[in-house]
Amino acid sequence: RLHQGEAIPEWFTFPEVVKILRERHPANARQGFALFFTGLSGSGKSTLAQAVLARLLETGSRPVTMLDGDEVRRHLSKGLGFSREDRNANITRIGYVASEVVRHGGIAICAPIAPYAEARDEARQLVQSHGHFVEIHIATPLEVCEARDRKGLYAAARAGKIKGFTGIDDPYETPASPELRIDTSEVSVNDAAERVLAWLHSQELA
Ligand code: PPS
Repeated sequence: RLHQGEAIPEWFTFPEVVKILRERHPANARQGFALFFTGLSGSGKSTLAQAVLARLLETGSRPVTMLDGDEVRRHLSKGLGFSREDRNANITRIGYVASEVVRHGGIAICAPIAPYAEARDEARQLVQSHGHFVEIHIATPLEVCEARDRKGLYAAARAGKIKGFTGIDDPYETPASPELRIDTSEVSVNDAAERVLAWLHSQELA
């Protein structure tokens, strides 16, 4: 093992050098966290994610990156569909980007449906190798999401115009042990955001 400040021998491999440099320089070592909102379409993920984003930006303690479901699909996951395989690929990509943000001490806010536990767990593994992963299940009941139907997608799914719509003819695996569970039909956006912030404070993350 090398002492602090000791020259790194030239025969060290590149990954070894990078590991040592990250450990030596605290700015590279400071861990961030990912807030991973998951829930049905129309459950309130994006709205709550935005409210939490605003609060975190106000404190200004760390850079915040938003990886919203729709945004991600326009860029990072362009071309992917909604099969199990594509949805999981989408979540793995989100998890990977979030892990890089977290590695550099930032906050990543993710808000995809993420219907499959296997992909959520993979995202958790990716992030946890660099920092904290906070899974927040937006547990708004399907009936409420469907009644809201802001984009008219539930109506289209019921009419058979969209196939494989989450909650209608495609599964949503309820998270077994998320860090937080919030039903937006029971609490206001403000109160829900406060609950997230209170939890982060209790863990000394914000
Ligand atoms: S996933 O399952 O996590 O990869 O989904 P995500 O990337 O979050 O994309 C969800 C948004 O895509 C729209 N959409 C669908 N959702 C569910 N099932 C099907 N078949 C589907 N087709 C399109 C929908 O607008 C989702 O947006 P949100 O913001 O969740 O309502």
